[in-house]
Amino acid sequence: ERYSYGIVGLGVMGRNLLYNIADNGFSIAGFDLDQEKVKELEIGATSEMKVKGTGSLEDFVSALEVPRKIILMVPAGKPVDAVLENITPLLNEGDIVIDAGNSYFEDTNRRVADLASKKLHFMGMGVSGGEKGARRGPSIMPGGDLEAFKLLKPMLEAIAAKVDNEACTAYMGKGSAGNYVKMVHNGIEYAIMQLISEAYDLLKRGAGLNNEQLYEVFRDWNDGEMNSFLIEITRDIFTQKDSFTENYLVDQILDKAGAKGTGKWTSEQAMEIGVSIPTIDIAVTSRILSAYKDERVQASKIYAEKEITKPENTELFIREVGDALFLSTLISYAQGLSLLVKASVEYGFEIPLKDVVKIWRGGCIIRSVLLEKFYSAYTQNPDLSNILLDHDISELVKSKIKALRKTAGYAAANGISSLGIQTALGYFDAYTTESLPVNLIQAQRDYFGAHTYQRTDREGVFHTSWQSANN
Ligand code: 6PG
Repeated sequence: ERYSYGIVGLGVMGRNLLYNIADNGFSIAGFDLDQEKVKELEIGATSEMKVKGTGSLEDFVSALEVPRKIILMVPAGKPVDAVLENITPLLNEGDIVIDAGNSYFEDTNRRVADLASKKLHFMGMGVSGGEKGARRGPSIMPGGDLEAFKLLKPMLEAIAAKVDNEACTAYMGKGSAGNYVKMVHNGIEYAIMQLISEAYDLLKRGAGLNNEQLYEVFRDWNDGEMNSFLIEITRDIFTQKDSFTENYLVDQILDKAGAKGTGKWTSEQAMEIGVSIPTIDIAVTSRILSAYKDERVQASKIYAEKEITKPENTELFIREVGDALFLSTLISYAQGLSLLVKASVEYGFEIPLKDVVKIWRGGCIIRSVLLEKFYSAYTQNPDLSNILLDHDISELVKSKIKALRKTAGYAAANGISSLGIQTALGYFDAYTTESLPVNLIQAQRDYFGAHTYQRTDREGVFHTSWQSANN
């Protein structure tokens, strides 16, 4: 008996994805270098599942139907190349290898070319939703070879999360578009997490809310227009008690954040192809800054005069912080999506933005009711270069902008760091300004370096011999 699918890498994500595929009636074989994980695989499967754990790569490959459809769920980077090096000699023309990890898109391009020279298909496929998503329905972002994609489509649609009975998976475009879309998803994820942490800090240190009260605020937010996965889990975090002490767990956690690279890649890419995504950038750099714990402790003692003035009206303050979080989150999506618009052209991905926001509505970490609004915006105008230009979105933005300004002002006045909120507002103000003061920068560049400038009133490129006013 041969199996329809295979998964290499039986860590939590791989194993959960495998069970999800098996639950949906597809037979599937698994392989991992760690034989313990292989053993656990069959033990954990239900009797209805057609699941096989294999002891060697050879057994794994020969257990699969041809053309083989092999999903890699191994850490991005060298592990992927290591698997490919070992497995490709065992494969036959037409077999398909799908990398479901957070691989860098340029790595995928290299691997596509490499496997194509061996007449094998290689696809990069973003999968979001963490452990639970992998098991019960993730958002799946495949890209690349269209023929190979068509073979996988029924399975992907079966295992993906559903919103209004529609599967949260779609073809994301050519080449490494699947990885690229997932990378930007993660950049937006970083930004939203940063923004939520700032809202938390404002409510905690500004308004003086305790964890019980924070739970209530996030519960109300999640029950309303901010309904989203990240708000929901934040709500729950405030109720979790510590197992070592009597305290809430969140208060025992060290304020140093890790990162595995996707956020950084998003920022690097934005710089590379000339797209402004400052709130994502700041979220990346804030995690870096968080690591300077010792210096921060030292500096906090030197500059210890910070006095926080409590907001006069707590209810109002909470509403405003909520609106500020809502709008700055929306602006982060706007930045990330605008990167996808540019990358689509730059790299010839042909990313269908409407489908991107459609499949982000469920299953993934950045799922939110907001995505419904973006989906209708792109349905009306698939070529929208920035969602801030959409009419309905603009009405929404206008209804929240005052609260964002007030919140940013409060944070600045009270020395509560709010890099995400400030950059979202700053981006909005720059993006909506007809005449930026960049005319002066152009004058300076031309003054000291003859870099030339363009004029507002006539065509052409100009240079001036600027005169010193001092003689
Ligand atoms: C997801 C997540 C997942 C992971 C990221 C972020 O969509 O399910 O984005 O892929 O959490 O790798 O991880 P870091 O915060 O460690 O960079």
